[in-house]
Amino acid sequence: MSFDGNKLCQLLGIKIPIMSAPMAGVTTGSLAAGVTLAGGFGLLSTGNSGFCIPTTSTSIDSYNSFKGEIASARELLGTTAGLPLPIGVGFLGWLLDKDEEGGKRLLMAALDEPVKAVWFSFGQDLEKWIKFVRDYDAANNRKTIIIVQLSTVAKIQVAIRDWKVDIVVAQGNEAGGHGYTSSPPVKVLVSSVLPLTTDGGPLILGAGGVATGAQVAELLNLGVSGVILGTRFSLTPESRLGEPQKKALLSAGPNLSVRSMAFDEVRDTMGWPRGVDGRGIRTASVDDYERGDDISVLRAKLQDSQKNGDMSRAVIWAGTGYSLVKELKPAKEVVEELRRECLAHLKN
Ligand SMILES: Cc1cc2nc3c(=O)[nH]c(=O)nc-3n(C[C@H](O)[C@H](O)[C@H](O)COP(=O)(O)O)c2cc1C
Repeated sequence: MSFDGNKLCQLLGIKIPIMSAPMAGVTTGSLAAGVTLAGGFGLLSTGNSGFCIPTTSTSIDSYNSFKGEIASARELLGTTAGLPLPIGVGFLGWLLDKDEEGGKRLLMAALDEPVKAVWFSFGQDLEKWIKFVRDYDAANNRKTIIIVQLSTVAKIQVAIRDWKVDIVVAQGNEAGGHGYTSSPPVKVLVSSVLPLTTDGGPLILGAGGVATGAQVAELLNLGVSGVILGTRFSLTPESRLGEPQKKALLSAGPNLSVRSMAFDEVRDTMGWPRGVDGRGIRTASVDDYERGDDISVLRAKLQDSQKNGDMSRAVIWAGTGYSLVKELKPAKEVVEELRRECLAHLKN
């Protein structure tokens, strides 16, 4: 049994309908390349510290580090400079909107590689950036696959009907990292939007709380063309998640994944579009925030605890499936394990 007839595999030229999520500050060239080399599809993310737009000295460092990750993916994948790079790059719409000229330069840097796909999420006007990619592609006589990640039926309907993107990722409430407070669980979301799709229209993928091949099989059985995993791939040696965070996540007990505004409030990383919060591990910071403690006190406590390597107040993004992950494994092994488990469950 194989995934030969799977539409996502056909579209991306991959063997297993699994993608690693673009995770700002966490994904690396070696993680994205590892996933692609194992037969899935890996994505890098822009948007971590200072954002990668080369306008200030911090952002020049950040831009150079983005180019460095691309170069490391290229080397691991063994593709010559200038030839298409079989990975994708994620962009946060609200950050592109903050500095449109810089955003365009950053996008062009990815498109000129050229990367196989770009991913847009968390923006008030993603359509503008989709149009930019299409126009740039047309001028350069190429086609970049366009992926959008959305969390409500209404927005997904627009992406299917009006934007006509190649892939829509339906991000359910279980998803780790940023997401929408009001998003339904992933199985409800994909079951609501799959009937809206048409032949030749966007492929629907599911994201949120998935950590095992059995869960991948379950979503494929519901009718999605592929599955995105974030938290699962953050627990790999290739990910840039800090070692203490990895340890804390692996040893956290069950039922600690929670949606909250506390994470961005205590880190002072506000500015996300309305309705966006985050999902991570419940810590003392979340408890104190829910009790209504003063935010400046919580920020000071977080900074103090970080100096001592104490993780009890740290922000540790985690989807609901985090407790199913028992150990760190290289991306390649994760993909192989997911493939084996998934095929066994599809057979059953
Ligand atoms: C550490 C982390 C960082 C993330 N960063 C991004 C990001 O930069 N852009 C984005 O669109 N989604 C981001 N996400 C959300 C993922 O795209 C995806 O929806 C989520 O990881 C799926 O849920 P899971 O983590 O339970 O697998 C992030 C998720 C995590 C866990």
